[in-house]
This record gives sequence, structure tokens and C-alpha cells, in this order.
Amino acid sequence: MTLTLRAIERLRLVNMKIAFVGKGGSGKTTLSSLFIRHLAATGAPVVAIDADINQHLGAALGLEEATAAALPAMGERLPVIKDYLRGSNQRIASVETMIKTTPPGEGSRLLRLNENNPVYDACARPVELDGGTVRLMVTGPFTEADLGVACYHSKTGAVELCLNHLVDGRSEYAVVDMTAGSDSFASGLFTRFDITFLVAEPTRKGVSVYRQYKEYARDFGVVLKVVGNKVQGQDDIDFLRAEVGDDLLVTVGHSDWVRAMEKGRPPRFELLEDSNRRALRTLQTAADATYELRDWERYTHQMVHFHLKNAGSWGNAKTGADLAAQVDPGFVLGEGLVATA
Ligand SMILES: Nc1ncnc2c1ncn2[C@@H]1O[C@H](COP(=O)(O)OP(=O)(O)OP(=O)(O)O)[C@@H](O)[C@H]1O
Ligand SMILES: [Mg+2]
Repeated sequence: MTLTLRAIERLRLVNMKIAFVGKGGSGKTTLSSLFIRHLAATGAPVVAIDADINQHLGAALGLEEATAAALPAMGERLPVIKDYLRGSNQRIASVETMIKTTPPGEGSRLLRLNENNPVYDACARPVELDGGTVRLMVTGPFTEADLGVACYHSKTGAVELCLNHLVDGRSEYAVVDMTAGSDSFASGLFTRFDITFLVAEPTRKGVSVYRQYKEYARDFGVVLKVVGNKVQGQDDIDFLRAEVGDDLLVTVGHSDWVRAMEKGRPPRFELLEDSNRRALRTLQTAADATYELRDWERYTHQMVHFHLKNAGSWGNAKTGADLAAQVDPGFVLGEGLVATA
């Protein structure tokens, strides 16, 4: 199927791209998985993406270890992803010259959350949860060589490519469990979300990751909200409030439901503690509220900014091509774009 892009009248659609970041062990995977379960229970289409160094999202969504370990790794399927997204885009000479920041343009294929396409066929697997089925995609395990590299082989590159080619359907959610690593800052991945939930324990280390993130995010209009986790009382809440101010969105305490799941005895999701259910609703409300801040021109502009940066720092040298020429100056990603056969 050959797809071309055609602008139609702007539709009012709500699709949210949401990241969970934070210090190792803070509870990113746990809170991502609870949020994914919550969204699935509302009946919304959800694509869950594990882009964390420690690949545990599948297990947190209830997959057996062997099933989780056998999930297809996006990092190993980059040629399929690139070949599909490139479509008939004349500005991208070959799959080999398509890097993780190569932006879509005329002729590119776009992804929708609630469709079937070769990228999902290759990389996504359905996971059945109480009340709904989500698609799960995983980057694959990180090796020593992946950490801190801003390069061609980066595991999160596949995620960035997909997000940069994603257009939106009604009330759909992409939820990404990821690290607050240098990789996502160098590439621009951290700017690809409508809202970023920074999971922080009430500790100095927890909030120092927040400060670093806030600093990177400052110039890019990133909406950053702190979710306090493993909070035990008012003193913990006061600490977080004093350290992060109004960026503190909500706090979550110790959950027996989570602990039971960790013991391999997952209760039904409807049995999650009331306070934690409320916290999940708060996350969804905050995510949905960012819809009004949507700015597709800025979103596309940032893609181009990071592409040119990556092209100059390593991409041109690596591919032997002038990657700046991949930018389609007339193209703006957006909800008014539809792919037509
Ligand atoms: N609110 C909670 N209640 C009970 N246990 C929790 C809670 N949050 C996290 N945990 C537990 O803390 C541990 C670390 O959580 P999790 O794996 O979600 O953190 P992470 O930030 O994803 O870590 P990593 O950096 O290793 O990926 C897990 O054993 C998890 O079950
Ligand atoms: Mg994790």
C-alpha cells in the first residue's frame, strides 16, 4: 500500500504521549504499569513501550518471565521500522541513511496507535489486562555499549523514530517507561511527550534527578510533573513539596497490591487501593489537560532541531550523506494529516 499525506480539516483528537522517568529503582516501571492498567480499564487504546535500561515492563504487566524475554526487540528491528516509515519519501535516499532523528516528510508513512501496520506486526505484542488489551513494544535489553552513546545503534532510537511518525487518534495513549539518561537528552527523545512524569522517592537523590531533568527541559517546553513514590507520611510530602514546589502532582504510598503482584499473585486490578486509583486518575487528568498546549509546529521544529544536531555531530560522518537534506521544509506533523491509500 502506498500512502501519501493529505491535509484535511483539523479534527479534535486526544492522543497523549506520556513518559515515566526517574532515578533507578524509583518506581518508573511500577507506576507506568499501573497507569497502563488504569487506561486499559477505561477502554482506551494503549501502546506501552519499555525503553528502560532494565526491561521489566512486560513482567509488571503480568507476563511470565519467559514470555517477556521472548518479546521482539525494537532495537533489532530497526531496518523494518525504517523501511516502513520511509515510505516513498524522496528526501531519504535509503534505509541506511535514515537515522533515529530523521523526520517525516512528504511520502513518509505515519503511525496511528489504533491500527495494524508492519511496525506493530514486527515489534508489538498484545498483552491482556483486566478490562482491556494493550500493545506492548520493548527496545530490548541495553548493553554496556548502549549507555551514554548518542549514536546510530542506540536502543531508544527506534522509539524516537516511532514517536516522530506518530499521529493521533481519539483518546489514545502511548506510555513509555524510560530512563532519564543522556541518550534521550542528546537525541531529543525527552521532548517527544505531551507530559513527562518524573517518579521521585522523597530523597535527595530522587529530587536531584528531577533538577537535572528540569534543567535540560527548560528550553523545550517540556511539561514535567513529579509523582512522589514510596511516600510514607506528611513529612515525605512536605519534603517533596519543598524541593519541587508546584511540580509535585501527586504522591503514591506503599501499595500492598503491588507487593502481591511482586510475589506472583496479582490481584484483580479493581482491588488496587482507593488512594492509588485516585492517583492514577490524577495522572490521566493531568495528561489530558496538556492537550490544550499542543503545538505541532513546535513539535516538528524540535524534531528538525535535534536532527540537524545529530547530523552534525555524528550522523553525516556515519552515513556519508548530508542528512540536513532530509528535512522537508514544508512539512508539519499534525492531527490534520491523514494517510490515504
Ligand atoms: N508504590 C509502591 N508500592 C510497593 N512497592 C513498590 C512501589 N513502587 C515501587 N515498588 C517496588 O520497588 C521496586 C522498584 O520499582 P520499579 O522496578 O518500578 O522501579 P524502576 O524505577 O522501574 O527501577 P529500574 O530503574 O530498575 O527500572 C520494585 O520491587 C517495585 O515493586
Ligand atoms: Mg524499571
